[in-house]
Formats: sequence, structure tokens, C-alpha cells
Amino acid sequence: MTKQHHITLLPGDGIGPEIMSVAVEVLKAIASKHDQEFTFTEALIGGAAIDETGEPLPAETLEACRKSDAVLLAAIGGYKWDNLPRQQRPETGLLGMRAGLGLFANLRPATILPQLIDASSLKREVVEGVDIMVVRELTGGIYFGQPKGIFETETGEQRGVNTMAYSVGEIDRIAKVGFETAQKRGGKLCSVDKANVLDVSQLWRDRVTAIAQDYSDVELSHLYVDNAAMQLVRAPKQFDTIVTGNLFGDILSDAAAMLTGSIGMLPSASLGTDGPGVFEPVHGSAPDIAGQDKANPLAQVLSVAMMLRYGLDEPDVASEIETVVNQVLDRGYRTGDIMSPGMKAVGCKEMGEVLIKLIMDNG
Ligand code: IPM
Ligand code: MG
Repeated sequence: MTKQHHITLLPGDGIGPEIMSVAVEVLKAIASKHDQEFTFTEALIGGAAIDETGEPLPAETLEACRKSDAVLLAAIGGYKWDNLPRQQRPETGLLGMRAGLGLFANLRPATILPQLIDASSLKREVVEGVDIMVVRELTGGIYFGQPKGIFETETGEQRGVNTMAYSVGEIDRIAKVGFETAQKRGGKLCSVDKANVLDVSQLWRDRVTAIAQDYSDVELSHLYVDNAAMQLVRAPKQFDTIVTGNLFGDILSDAAAMLTGSIGMLPSASLGTDGPGVFEPVHGSAPDIAGQDKANPLAQVLSVAMMLRYGLDEPDVASEIETVVNQVLDRGYRTGDIMSPGMKAVGCKEMGEVLIKLIMDNG
């Protein structure tokens, strides 16, 4: 029987629509070989939604996401919307979607591909073999804590406030995802906090240590976030799985991404307890190259693979997509961001065509 999956597509802004269209074509090509049928609903988010409706996350978009089996997001944001009030910024739409769908666990792999090793700004011997998974808490911490805002004090001076807060329940559930992820990988989990200064981090560390009792097969370590940042660029191969809060995870996942040379290659998954996950590239909307057929669609294509693996329980189809991405790199096809001497320069569209041809040739 043909398997059916319903996907909400959120192309968003900048290069979003270009890379989304490649990813959807790749998905259709793969599906046709596997007796699977994908149906799609496209919805507005970010700047595109602001222009059309005045808000970055229209209610219909959230509703469409809730009704689907998985959500594929490209990228949001751009200069045009940077100076709007916070409630109307593209980023607020993204945070609203994370909260609205309860996506508390964000998985961000940073795996170095041997074909691109020289694109890393670090020495080959430092990055060769790097394979890290950052598990970032996504719906709590300082991004969402109350009180927050810009207030006026009694003297009339302005004061900006955000609150970093985590409850035991929030820490425990992300810790479990961290341990379970480590179990499926190298069996090592490093929890990152700032327990030497922050009370919220002390609770974090205590709870992660307590949860570790249930995962005796995982080797747990703890690092302060400043040291973790240093270790990531000094000796990244010591890391297998990292679990951390929202803000530290935001920062460390960018650093981890750049170990691999191009942020244009990395996908991510955001998952809740039940309901659809959201799958998207780690990179942003790159407004400077939007509409010029220069974008690298591979992170979006690899996000489709993550969607199949973590959202739709189709690991074999996911592996097939990962294989084909490796094949295009082996054959020397490169977009500008990963170009090196002797390789074949292609644009976004052509990269998609090469991928589809390989999928068909692979039989
Ligand atoms: C990310 C981004 C977002 C974040 C922004 C765009 C709100 O940097 O997904 O890492 O800070 O979470
Ligand atoms: Mg970020």
C-alpha cells in the first residue's frame, strides 16, 4: 500500500523559496521510487507573512503545521524587516512556532564531510572525523523566561530585562533526549551550563546528574559554557553529544557548525513530545544572494533526510538522500560557498538537477 505523508512547507524569506523548491523536487523523486506519496500545503512565515498579513506567524500557518505529519522550513528574516517592533519581526514568528508546536528539543548535527574538510577554518587534523550532535533546549530558558521587556525605573532610566529560568520538568525532558541521543551515537554526553555562576545552571546540573542514573550506558560529563566554547575549537573530537539550554545551544551550535566549513551544509530537527516536528537548515535566509541562483540547497535537502528519519520514521529513505548528497560532492559539484579549485561550480537549480539525476540513476 502506498504510504502517505502530509508535509507543511514554509519557504519563508531570502533564499528560502529557491532551496525549498530543490528539496521538494528531491523528495518527490525519492518518493516515486519507494511507493510513497507526499502531499504538501504551503504556508506563510517570517517576512513573507508580515508582507502579506501583517504578522510573522499567521494563525492559519500554525494550524496547517499542527495538521501535518511534519513541517519543512527553509529560512526567515531579512534587512527589510529588521527595524520593525519585536512583535512583528520574522524571528518572533519562528519563536512562536517553536512554542506553539511544543518543540522543546532541537537536534543540530555538526558532521564533517571528508570532501569538504579543507573548507574548515581549522586545521585538517583538528577537524577530521568530527561528528557532534548538539541537543539544544528550544522552548525555555532566557528566550522565554518572565519577566522580560524594557522597563522604566523610578528614576526614569530604561532597563532591559530577560530571565533565564528552567523548571525541573523542562530540564528532565531535554536531559532524557540528550541521553537517548547519546545512546544511539557514541555513548558520550556532555552537559553544558554555567553552574559556577548561575542558580538556574546549578539546578540544570543537579537534574542532569540525577537523570544519568537511568542511563548507565552513557558516559556523562559537565562543562561550563565558556570552557565548552574553547574546547569546541581546541579539540572538537572529544565531543559526541552535547546537551544544553536555549541560549548556550544557540551559540555553541553556530560554533560547532563552522567546524565543518560551511554552515550551508547543516540540517536540524526540532521535536516535541508528540505532534509534527520542524526540519530546517541551520543557516539563515542569506538576503544578499537571494534570487540569484547561488544558494546551496544541500542543507535543505539534508533537512528532508532528517525529517524522514526523525519525523516520519523512514530511516532507509533518509539514508538514500544522505548517500546521494555524498555522491554529488564526490563528483565535484559545488555551490559558491563550498567551492574549491578544480571543482565544478553549479548554481542552486543545477545542484538540484544533479541530485535528481543521481537518484534516478541509482535505480
Ligand atoms: C537559530 C536562530 C534563532 C535563534 C533566531 C533566528 C531567532 O539563531 O535558530 O539558532 O536564536 O534561536
Ligand atoms: Mg542561532
